[in-house]
Amino acid sequence: MRLFSARYATNDPFVYRLGLQVFILARRVRLPYGSPSFTSLRPKRGLFGFRAAAQPLQVLVTALQKAESLRARKSGRPIAALTAYDFPTARLLDECGVDVLLVGDSLGMVVLGFPDTTHVTLQHMLHHVAAVARAKPKALVVGDLPIHTYETPAQALDTARQLVSAGAEAVKLEGGIRQAEKVRAITAAGIPVMGHLGMLPQCVLEEGGYHKKGRTPEQSDAIREGAQALIDSGVFAIVFESIVPATARLLSESLSVPIIGIGCGDHTCDGEVAVVTDVLGSYPWFVPPFARPEADLAGVTRDAVACYISRVSNRG
Ligand code: KIV
Repeated sequence: MRLFSARYATNDPFVYRLGLQVFILARRVRLPYGSPSFTSLRPKRGLFGFRAAAQPLQVLVTALQKAESLRARKSGRPIAALTAYDFPTARLLDECGVDVLLVGDSLGMVVLGFPDTTHVTLQHMLHHVAAVARAKPKALVVGDLPIHTYETPAQALDTARQLVSAGAEAVKLEGGIRQAEKVRAITAAGIPVMGHLGMLPQCVLEEGGYHKKGRTPEQSDAIREGAQALIDSGVFAIVFESIVPATARLLSESLSVPIIGIGCGDHTCDGEVAVVTDVLGSYPWFVPPFARPEADLAGVTRDAVACYISRVSNRG
């Protein structure tokens, strides 16, 4: 059977789905938030009465291709993901070849000084996603849907579209079965979605702290069911957070999309994600027990500023 119009005929269902998603996204996506080319991208009523593409088609195709190539890394080269919240960090991490730049709502703690992620708003996320996107990274830019912005499928889709308009190429949300319809709504609009299971930081207040997950067969089964519901709804990858290593490994091996672990032990998943300040040692006031600092930027900063103060104050 030939899929698509005669001119763009293809027999490949993936190419067809890609083309269809790009078409849908081109119709629906909104203006880039804070983009320098804001006015040139203002939507116009087209020949057929719907909004013209808010972003060049190539941007939308590239996002889907990047997500698809990460999905294809299941059982391949492990995925290295890091959080980023600003332009220079995004640029540096991208130059190093990181696969995913996650504008996570950990932003709330490590950048904005809140006690947890429940204080992060969509405005915060849009501001920081736009800064990261201005680095024009080769890595996939994923933006977190903040708490209370995806209560229904319609709201989830609207929030996802706003993040995409700000420059996100994919979005992430927390939770399993209860999020399946929302994931379906977002992926049906052509926006790639990453899931997040295990410890869910947006539930920290209800749960009274950050607790390890997957300790019992019941907990493990619940994570598996949640993961399968997300996969059936179209996620291209799932973050596992603070799941005991044996469970994380067992589940990763049996699930069909890449599992990206944090606090799940070494080499138990198809990749890892870390909060960039944990890797750089730039947030010394709280370091999670599983963090592996590769540098001491807090120490370097203190030394450099001490030198500066001493130079300025010893004028002679
Ligand atoms: O917000 C974030 O940084 C995250 C990671 C912990 C995965 O969701």
